[in-house]
Amino acid sequence: MDFSQRLLQAYNDAALTLMISVGHQVGLFVTMRGMAPASSAEIAVAAKLNERYVREWLGAMVTGGVVMVADGRYQLPEEHAACLTGAASMAGPSQYIAEMGRVEQLIVHCFREGGGVPYEKYPRFHDIMAEDSAQFVAGALEAHILPLVPGLVERLRTGIRVVDVGCGRGMTMARLAELFPASRFEGVDFSAEAIAYARAHARSGNVTYRAEDAKAPLAEGAYDFVTTFDAIHDQGRPLAVLRNIRRGLKADGVYLMQEIRGSSHHHGDIGHPLGTLLYTISCMHCMTVSLAQGGEGLGAMWGEEKTREYLKRAGFASVEKHELAHDIQNYWYVVRKELA
Ligand SMILES: C[S@@+](CC[C@H](N)C(=O)[O-])C[C@H]1O[C@@H](n2cnc3c(N)ncnc32)[C@H](O)[C@@H]1O
Repeated sequence: MDFSQRLLQAYNDAALTLMISVGHQVGLFVTMRGMAPASSAEIAVAAKLNERYVREWLGAMVTGGVVMVADGRYQLPEEHAACLTGAASMAGPSQYIAEMGRVEQLIVHCFREGGGVPYEKYPRFHDIMAEDSAQFVAGALEAHILPLVPGLVERLRTGIRVVDVGCGRGMTMARLAELFPASRFEGVDFSAEAIAYARAHARSGNVTYRAEDAKAPLAEGAYDFVTTFDAIHDQGRPLAVLRNIRRGLKADGVYLMQEIRGSSHHHGDIGHPLGTLLYTISCMHCMTVSLAQGGEGLGAMWGEEKTREYLKRAGFASVEKHELAHDIQNYWYVVRKELA
């Protein structure tokens, strides 16, 4: 493929991503899954949507290779439906593109003048993040994530104190609290909106949330287990937050840090299966929200080398990096306050 064709493909795929996001939000993939070949009118009725919009959307889906058409009747192949609905759905993350698009002009301004775009300019950010987190983190806790820390499940069953820093809408703590009634869970985030949502959706009495800056000191030596999920790189002062987490841990405490998979060098990210997407989300969200606070602007792709350097500077004694087979987006660092 020559470069001009590569560009055309990129524009087509960007447009397809936007339409996947729309289809996901209005329930078209769920409606079409398992449906016999149908006209646009039948699909619109089944989905309770406007036919004219559904028909145009189907045009994008057909030309994008998502939906098949014959004799004016449309069908979503089961293999595609399985990637766009249900537990293994990949549709949710398509929503990030439009959310980043909202701030394009503000980012253009920042390219010229510096500074950053604050969180409040992203109206659906917590919505999309919570959907992502419920599916890819909370949904993977038991099978994949908790086993990364030997003995953790047993300790959670016995009863320990846990805090999630930068907890967003609290999807992960809510799930852990349900699973382990003998343990106490806390979530901290500086977004009052995210914390209000987390409180309203808590499903058990052993989880509490507070709207607080992650730099506010955690009670010293109080926690057995501290987590951050995708929540260090976009901090204004990431090192201060890491030092605070270390301070909050008991001597034998463990810190589990989910951070975006990447090297700390652009050349090291060539071939990264999500490289362009992640650098784009970083530039148009993670990096800029940090800069908007007068922060460091580490960016989502700060990478493994820099992550290790920051953990060392924060005083942690050991760091183990893990990769999960089903997760091409993240590294999972198991970090200890002191050597055993
Ligand atoms: C990328 S989101 C991840 C949210 C959540 N951990 C999840 O996985 O759904 C980063 C979170 O960090 C929070 N955050 C950023 N800076 C913060 C700070 N200084 N203090 C507390 N929370 C902060 C944001 O409000 C946001 O909810």
